[in-house]
Formats: sequence, structure tokens, C-alpha cells
Amino acid sequence: MKLWGGRFTKTTHQWVEAFNASIGFDKELAEEDIEGSMAHVKMLGACGIITEEETNRILEGLANIRQKVREGKAEFTIEHEDIHMNIEKMLIDEIGEVGGKLHTGRSRNDQVALDMHLYVRKETVELAVKILELQEALLKQAEKHVDTILPGYTHLQRAQPVRFAHHLLAYVSMFERDVERFIDSFKRVNCCPLGAGAIAGTTFPVDRQMVAEALGFSSLYDNSMDAVSDRDYLVEFLSVCSLVMVHLSRLSEELILWSSEEFQYVILDDAFCTGSSMMPQKKNPDIPELIRGKTGRVFGHLMALLTTLKALPLTYNKDLQEDKEGVFDTVRTLKGSLRLMAALIETMEVNHSKMKRHAGQGFANATDLADYLVGKGIPFRKAHEIVGKLVLYAIHKEKTLNDCTLEEFHRFSPEIGEDVYSCLELENVVDARKSEGGTAKEQVLKTLSNKMATLEKHRETISNIY
Ligand code: ARG
Repeated sequence: MKLWGGRFTKTTHQWVEAFNASIGFDKELAEEDIEGSMAHVKMLGACGIITEEETNRILEGLANIRQKVREGKAEFTIEHEDIHMNIEKMLIDEIGEVGGKLHTGRSRNDQVALDMHLYVRKETVELAVKILELQEALLKQAEKHVDTILPGYTHLQRAQPVRFAHHLLAYVSMFERDVERFIDSFKRVNCCPLGAGAIAGTTFPVDRQMVAEALGFSSLYDNSMDAVSDRDYLVEFLSVCSLVMVHLSRLSEELILWSSEEFQYVILDDAFCTGSSMMPQKKNPDIPELIRGKTGRVFGHLMALLTTLKALPLTYNKDLQEDKEGVFDTVRTLKGSLRLMAALIETMEVNHSKMKRHAGQGFANATDLADYLVGKGIPFRKAHEIVGKLVLYAIHKEKTLNDCTLEEFHRFSPEIGEDVYSCLELENVVDARKSEGGTAKEQVLKTLSNKMATLEKHRETISNIY
């Protein structure tokens, strides 16, 4: 018989059983469910709602079930629909009728909310740690490539040369914001819904604060109706995860381009690439492509949850059971993607001579020539026009700006002197950008050390977050 079978005269249709059940996926919450039940039952005992002996028997029963779950010996069935009733049924089978006291003053509505809070809390920490590991890999490469210069692109056209470290540090900054978003959202995750009951609270003299403290929560939901129907924290979690995927997909795209024959800026490690079943010469960047591809499913989960929540009346509705699979899949996707991206970055080889060659072509120093003319008193707009014409001339002559003779320069501007050549040198072009956050060596070194310090600070914050 079902745990709720009292008022029913018929057995559940098998189609309903299969359609309604969530055990196939919410078994992922077994540990959280048992942990929450243990805290609940201790509180019931401490508040005199059940006896000490009953408390201990239930705790022992739950510990045994947890052991079975860990050993993979727990048998879940769709007959008992979800993880909550499967565990309660196992408890009753294990210790007898007294197991039926576990659910005193509690509903599956506040129970499932509690489980999800515990789950997202744990995964927020694990994901943040994985991002820190990726940042570490990026910082290590950045440290090695302060003096490696490549073209920076806008519109995927060569724009201005930059240090490779500078390029990598841009990603460190993106992931730093992601870590901060996880930290910021944490206070809404670390809030305890238990004690809300089904909707309106409970008639038993429960101590909500005690449960929250035992589970390490920093606050309590202050409205029982909100407690059982709030899924904002899941939307927030999925949205932070979506931005992480945005950043991973942008980095993936660059790795795919950079490792192509056309660019040849990096060589991805053989251990992280795959071959073609037909074309023997192929070495494909499947992993960054897959990360880029998997971004779509994470966005999809965010949109699906927003849509599930839209216009949903208070309070619990079965629609809310749909919140789980997307969250679980997102966690799996992000963990796999972050781990592999860190490995790809750590093991990639950088072709600095190719990068440098490209940085020296394509007039990436044209802005510097214009800035030089500004230094000679010419308004920037006029200087821009002069250099534009010079570039056109050089394209026709198949030269770089550095190859032009002084006589040629003078046809466009008599103000240009011998000192122009050093201003057009790649290293000087890069190091002239000394503005804060620019690509000059002193700025890049400063940012590098700031980012390392922030990484350590975040590591500290995350390890003490609850
Ligand atoms: N499996 C359900 C879910 O995930 C648990 C809560 C069920 N509550 C209820 N009143 N039917 O949402």
C-alpha cells in the first residue's frame, strides 16, 4: 500500500505510477534526504515531540539505510514514487511502525525544498572549486607567456598586438566574476525551508532554528508559503552556470581557431584530441567543440525552469518536480567541461613564433603611427586619415609599415622622422599601452599578481562558506 493510501479505494494505474514517479532521478538526493531527516528527527526528540528512544531507533534505521545507499544496495521502486517516500518506506520496513514517526510535522513539500537547498549548496562549492582550478591553469600559462605576443582581434580581424598573458588573463577575469556570482548567490541557497510543512507551518512545537543550525544554514525562510514554492535559488544557480558555459564556450571557440591549420597558434595535447574514422591526417578538437556544444543544453535548462515557474500559483504544485533533472544535468555538464578545459589549457603548447609573425603583419601597429603623429601636433582624426592612406599604399606595395622608407613616409606626412621606426616595433607597440589594465608588461605583471591573490582569497572564502 502507498504511504498516502488511506483515502483511496483503487490502486494507482500503472501509467500514472510511471509518469508520476521521480525516483529515477531524485535518487541523486538520497544523501541529502537522509541528512535532512536525521536533523529533523533529532529536533523532534529534543522538543519532546517523540521520545528519546524513538529518536534513537529512527536515527539508527536511517544510518543503516544510508549505508545501504552508499554500498549501492538500496532498492528504490516507482511504487513509492520519489526518494522521500522510498526512504520512509525502507525505514518502516527496517524498524517497524515507529519509523512512521519520522514524518511528524513535516511534508514532502518542505522536505524536497530542503534536499534541493542542501544539494545546490554542496554543488555550488564543488563548481566554484573547479573554476578556481581552471583559473590556476590559465594563470600558469599566463605566467609563462608574458613575453609572447600575438595579434589581438576585433571582428576577428587583426587589431592590435597583445601579450598572450593579457589574452589569457581576460578569461581569468571572466571566471573570477563567476566565482563571485556563486559566492553572492550562496546566501539565498543557504537558507532553510524545513518547518514550513505542506504550506502553512506545523501544529507541533518544532524548533526550526535548531534544524537550521544542525545543517549549517545561515538563515530560515520567513514565510512558509514562500519556503515550499520558492525555486528562485535554482534559477539563479542555473543562470550563474549558464554564464560559466558562455565563458567556456568562448574559450573553446578560440582553442578551436588557434589549433587550426589556418592559425597554428597552439597545439592541443594528443591525449585530449581525437582522430577521424576516414581521414588519417585528422586531429580534431572534439573536446572544446563538445564544451561549446553543451552550452546549449545548460541554457535550455535555465529557460525550461523559468517557463515551469512562470504563472505558477502558490504554493507547491507538481510542476515543481520538473526542477530537478535540468539542475542535475547542469552540474554534470559543468563539472565535465571545467575539468577538461583545465586539462586542455594546462597541456597546450604555444607556438610563439607563429603568433609573433602574425602580430607583425596586418598593420596591427597602424594605431601607433597615428598616435605618433598626434605626438607631432596633428589632430587624431587627421592622423587617422594619413595613416589610412599609408596603409592602402603599403598594401599595394606588399609591405608592412615598418618596411616603408622615410622618403615614402614623407609623401604622406613630412612630420614623420627617424624615430618612427622604434615606435612601430612590436615590443614597443605593446609596451606603449601602459594605461591601467592595458597590455604593457608592467600592467600585465601587476594584473597577474592581483589575480593570483584574488584566487587565493576566493579559495579561502569558499572553503569556509558553511
Ligand atoms: N517528488 C516531489 C518533487 O520532486 C516531492 C514533493 C511531492 N509533494 C507532493 N505534495 N506531491 O516535487
